[in-house]
Amino acid sequence: MIETRAVRTEELDAMLEIMCAAFELTPGPARELFFRDPFFNVENKRVLVADGRVVSCLTVADAFVWIGPALVPVAGLAGVATHPDFRRRGFARRLLCDTVAHLRGRGTPLSALIPCSPSFYRRAGWERAAGHARTLIPYPRRADFAEVRQVRPAIDSDRNAIGRLYDRWARGRTGCCKRDERRWRALFDRVKGRALHCGDRVDGYVLYEFREDTEAHRVLRILELVAETDAALRGLAAFLSAQKDLVAVEHNGPPGDPAAAALACWLGGDESGCRPVTEWLHGAMFRVVGFEAALRCLAPCLQGLDGTVDLICRDSWTSPPVTEAVRISGGGGSATVEAAPARRGSMRIEGDSGAWAAVLAGCWSLEDAAALNRLHVLGGADWVASPHFPRRNPCLPLPDHF
Ligand SMILES: CC(C)(COP(=O)(O)OP(=O)(O)OC[C@H]1O[C@@H](n2cnc3c(N)ncnc32)[C@H](O)[C@@H]1OP(=O)(O)O)[C@@H](O)C(=O)NCCC(=O)NCCS
Repeated sequence: MIETRAVRTEELDAMLEIMCAAFELTPGPARELFFRDPFFNVENKRVLVADGRVVSCLTVADAFVWIGPALVPVAGLAGVATHPDFRRRGFARRLLCDTVAHLRGRGTPLSALIPCSPSFYRRAGWERAAGHARTLIPYPRRADFAEVRQVRPAIDSDRNAIGRLYDRWARGRTGCCKRDERRWRALFDRVKGRALHCGDRVDGYVLYEFREDTEAHRVLRILELVAETDAALRGLAAFLSAQKDLVAVEHNGPPGDPAAAALACWLGGDESGCRPVTEWLHGAMFRVVGFEAALRCLAPCLQGLDGTVDLICRDSWTSPPVTEAVRISGGGGSATVEAAPARRGSMRIEGDSGAWAAVLAGCWSLEDAAALNRLHVLGGADWVASPHFPRRNPCLPLPDHF
């Protein structure tokens, strides 16, 4: 017999064992991390049990993610694993699909995960929906900006000021997560490399870590750099470039981040012939869990909608398949969203939930999806709806990876 459900307390050790085998973790430290997780909640740890034995597991990490002007609840999935003796029998896929059904029942609009195998998740309904750029600056030069004098290591009592700066910066940036006090505390516990720039107020910070290579030369990996002012950016760049024994600085952020370009310009040397290189990496994949729920949460993006359009989303990855039809309408002010069957001859847009995931998360614009033939537009619906579903360059910051 096969069942999928929340893990029971007495099954937690079996779940941890599967995760250790799947992710090659050392049991002692992994146990410590697992049980000391500040977000630990058995309700969010889901397992597939076959004939009384836990064989697959995953963890749901609840988050709120900015998509344009809307803050949307997103169920992040992490630690998807199957016991090595039970792989390739469809267990992980079934656990994923049952988890989507469970989340739909809970009213969750979207799910996201960081894939190591995009094709595996695509076959379960997730779609690549966010990007991430990594810029490597080898043999960084020192940037002797005077603003370094306003930079110092960030200590615990700086958490609130940094949190307020993050809130200002993240608001409306697609892919950024809302971080509450608990999340900042967890981040400060985990990330020991942190510095801030303080002008009239805290207007810049950086979270970083070191990766040592075999000769104890260090790569400084920037997990997040936020600067509200040019002075803050210069100060933080000077601070980072002054760290000892650096063989490289690695910046991580959204594609096209001006901070990455500035660092490459100031720190990048060309004497050695090694120039800065930017790699575009796959970021998070998104999945529509509840189409109506998602559009309701995205209502701020529909402000100014002028007309009525039926939107149809088919999810054929769940068993049985689910089709949701949602009507969005407005007269130039705020819009309404309601579940309603599509009318004959109406303006409508239809497609599968993978395509809608990429459009709702802002990876593709509605026009992109229509041009790719992934969404089908009838009756000129794109004229009405397109301005509300633009491309938004989504990027889930590294510190928020589930
Ligand atoms: C990735 C992982 C979770 C997959 O678990 P699983 O239970 O084997 O997954 P499934 O059986 O549902 O699917 C795996 C593959 O087996 C195939 N499969 C499913 N049933 C099958 C069957 N009866 N016979 C043969 N193959 C089968 C699936 O088609 C799938 O192939 P695909 O990736 O080419 O689509 C597992 O390999 C694992 O724990 N890996 C290590 C941890 C990891 O990488 N986790 C993912 C983090 S992003």
